[in-house]
Amino acid sequence: MNGVTVEVDGTGVAVPEGSSLLTAVRAAGVELPALCSDDRLSPAGSCRTCLVRVGGRVAAACVTPASPGMRVDTVGEEVARLRRDAVEVIVSALPPRALADGSPGELAHVCRAMGIGPEAARGAGGRGGDESHPYVHLDRDLCIACGRCVRMCSEVQGTFALTLVGRGGDTVVAPGTGGPWAESDCVACGGCVDTCPTGAISQPGPARGLTSAFHPQEARTRTTCGYCGVGCALDVIAHDGEVTAVLPARDGPVNRGHACVKGRFSHGFRTSPERLTRPLLRRDGVLEPVGWDEALAHVARGLRAAVDAGGPDSVAAISSARATNEENYLVQKFMRVVVGTNNVDNCSRLCHSPSAAGLTASFGLSGGTDSFDDVARSDCLLVVGANPVEAHPVVGARLLERVLHGAGLIVADPRAVGLALHADVHLRPRPGTNVALFHGLAHVLLAEGLTDEAFLRERATGLPELTELLVDYTPDRVTDITGVPAADLVAAARLYGRAERPAIVYGLGVTEHLHGTDGVRSLANLAILRGAVGTDRGHGVNPLRGQNNVQGASDMGALPDLLPGYGKVADPAVRARAEAVWGGPVPARPGLRIPDMFAAARAGDLRALWVIGEDVRATDPDTTRVAEALDACPLVVCNELFLSETARHADVVLPVASWLEKDGTFVNFDRRFQRVRPAVPPPGEARTDFDTVRAVAAAMGVDLRCPRPADALAECAALVPAFAGLSHGRLDREGAVPWPCPDPGRPGEAKLYTERFATPDGRAHLAAAPYLPPGERPDDAYPLVLVTGRRWAHYNSGSMTRRSGNLALDPVDLLDLHPDDAGRYGVRDGERVTVESRHGRARLVARVGDRTPPGQVFCSFHFPASGVNRLTSDVADTVTSCPEYKVTAVRVTPS
Ligand code: FES
Repeated sequence: MNGVTVEVDGTGVAVPEGSSLLTAVRAAGVELPALCSDDRLSPAGSCRTCLVRVGGRVAAACVTPASPGMRVDTVGEEVARLRRDAVEVIVSALPPRALADGSPGELAHVCRAMGIGPEAARGAGGRGGDESHPYVHLDRDLCIACGRCVRMCSEVQGTFALTLVGRGGDTVVAPGTGGPWAESDCVACGGCVDTCPTGAISQPGPARGLTSAFHPQEARTRTTCGYCGVGCALDVIAHDGEVTAVLPARDGPVNRGHACVKGRFSHGFRTSPERLTRPLLRRDGVLEPVGWDEALAHVARGLRAAVDAGGPDSVAAISSARATNEENYLVQKFMRVVVGTNNVDNCSRLCHSPSAAGLTASFGLSGGTDSFDDVARSDCLLVVGANPVEAHPVVGARLLERVLHGAGLIVADPRAVGLALHADVHLRPRPGTNVALFHGLAHVLLAEGLTDEAFLRERATGLPELTELLVDYTPDRVTDITGVPAADLVAAARLYGRAERPAIVYGLGVTEHLHGTDGVRSLANLAILRGAVGTDRGHGVNPLRGQNNVQGASDMGALPDLLPGYGKVADPAVRARAEAVWGGPVPARPGLRIPDMFAAARAGDLRALWVIGEDVRATDPDTTRVAEALDACPLVVCNELFLSETARHADVVLPVASWLEKDGTFVNFDRRFQRVRPAVPPPGEARTDFDTVRAVAAAMGVDLRCPRPADALAECAALVPAFAGLSHGRLDREGAVPWPCPDPGRPGEAKLYTERFATPDGRAHLAAAPYLPPGERPDDAYPLVLVTGRRWAHYNSGSMTRRSGNLALDPVDLLDLHPDDAGRYGVRDGERVTVESRHGRARLVARVGDRTPPGQVFCSFHFPASGVNRLTSDVADTVTSCPEYKVTAVRVTPS
């Protein structure tokens, strides 16, 4: 970027072109008050506290562009007095408590620096507040109407929930809806809390008034969020072993000072009275607290007995996408080296295994192709089968920010998800028809010459086969299959096809289908046809990973057919490398996938199952059958925070640490390794998953080595060339490093395939897979299609978010249905309904509205008691066994 050099108080300083004088002044190390400014927001220039003299005139530094050769005076008596006057005028309207001893926040900091004391605050107060919201409180007396909160809500979060009301000195922030804050459109991202300079908007409790820029450095622990796969960097503030606040890190590489209601506020689960603090052992049908030695001895005896009775393959483990890389690494090592089986899998089986298979087949590696920073610079976003505004809110906010700055947006999703409201084109395909939709888009790209012929010639294969297939996917035929109007399909293809740097972002709406892998590959076709992957002409194909470390769990080899780094377990050379590092044989036969583990248990072939941090009895499909499997398995061991549905039926329950209490690393959705650090100790006798795996191995007489998480990552780096440049020490120094990272002295590859694809022939592979219908289809008995997904305040089975203030924000499990269907089936808004599928029954509360199209209903799976996953089927992706969560035929009746 070109630079501009200006002179600040006689010293030259260079800043990027387009910078303000405030940026230049700060770059020169001069501290100026700037009460209406936040460098994440557009400047307002309203408070006049940042005045400087430049070129013979007085100017507000925040709204004055830095021009070459400008001479800025910040120290002159006149401007210093004007700044002080401006601050004093603002302070004079506030009550004295605004500057009481020890007041946190930016205004108090400014006043202390200027020697302005509480006596300057002479306001009468009495304007009242709003404490209706669990996480965001408003004290109107402290509002200086700087508008930062309003701009944060609109420009960064994209929610537009706040406004300024009143006139002159009575101007104050308020929810745009006019009523109490709790009933507003606020999504509790905490952005307004974080930017407020006075504490007028704050979070309740001990962190009142704390913001990420103005809290003591020494009291914080930098870690990575343990909710979704975005990978937000967070600073955890703790006191006496308790978390008092979680603040978004301004230098977080993905979140850049932003967060969402989960990462920022939902940590109350830590101290829930339901938290498990001692091991539990089932005796006479009842789970009873026992000591660790007894629990570990029981697990070790049980695993040995299972191996003795049925061989190593009668034992299986479900590792955890919530756990660290180091924990996942140790789990798979334990299963392979200690038990002697490849029966280890993780929940990517249930979400993005089609991404791993599809992206590997198309490009060579299983991760997304580009960094999110690049995606967020794209001029056209194609967002498919994802609702990032609710499921990945920080990504949703950054994508929306890009769209508000002019990028084109195509949303392909049956529902009117948040981003769809801002889309140039919203494609609403029938669930299960993605492949036809993507082929229709590809047909138009080819028909209208919107492809990159040189790229296709030099870097891709499969064009003739795909061209032949696409003849049958005319817009009109695709309309018949998908329900998407042909004109919309053509408009979307032209928008994507004519963009200079298009990017594809997608979610589980692409993968969780009978033909999910075909969906990923057909979607990848679009980027290949456009030459928008591995080039500077686009930003590829990027899956939004669901869980915090689902990418890492697979990277670490918690998969039945792949070792750490995705080497095939069936390949003798790959096994030999692992055997050399681990010092023991690695079994050659691929192990069981999660659904196959349950089938084996029901058949009596699985004698022991260790479930680490997954509530499979609530979140896996067709849970009635899952329950049968767990009940049939002689030994079920469960690592858990709470007595989940799965733990409730286990034989041994080991209490474990949460993400706020452990050491290690996560890999986020754009392949960045980031550190996880313990901010507080785990409660009671709870241990990390890392310690429990080592302890069980020790109880079986095996030293797994790797005494610390750092040692486990070091061992993995020694085993996997793509991770060879990674270590805890490096991550401590650099913050985030993407893989592949083969060299400790060089950066990782944020953007993949710039020289060649990682396929055996070095080319991108177009896929010519025909559209095939979904596994379940509605009929007269089950006329509606159920789609499941996440809602903004909760996360997966809700075990953490339901045990925090988030429950007050979203207390009821709702079924969304269209008014036409509500009328047809006699359902009223707010009424309890029974939802029945061919597999089971659930009870929910109806919410009637038009976000969900006619013929479809939508609900989350955050409230296991509702039984939503009793409804879903065991139909699964033909390549990876990923369940078809997104298409279940149901009927709805009032109950
Ligand atoms: Fe410059 Fe407010 S910060 S006018």
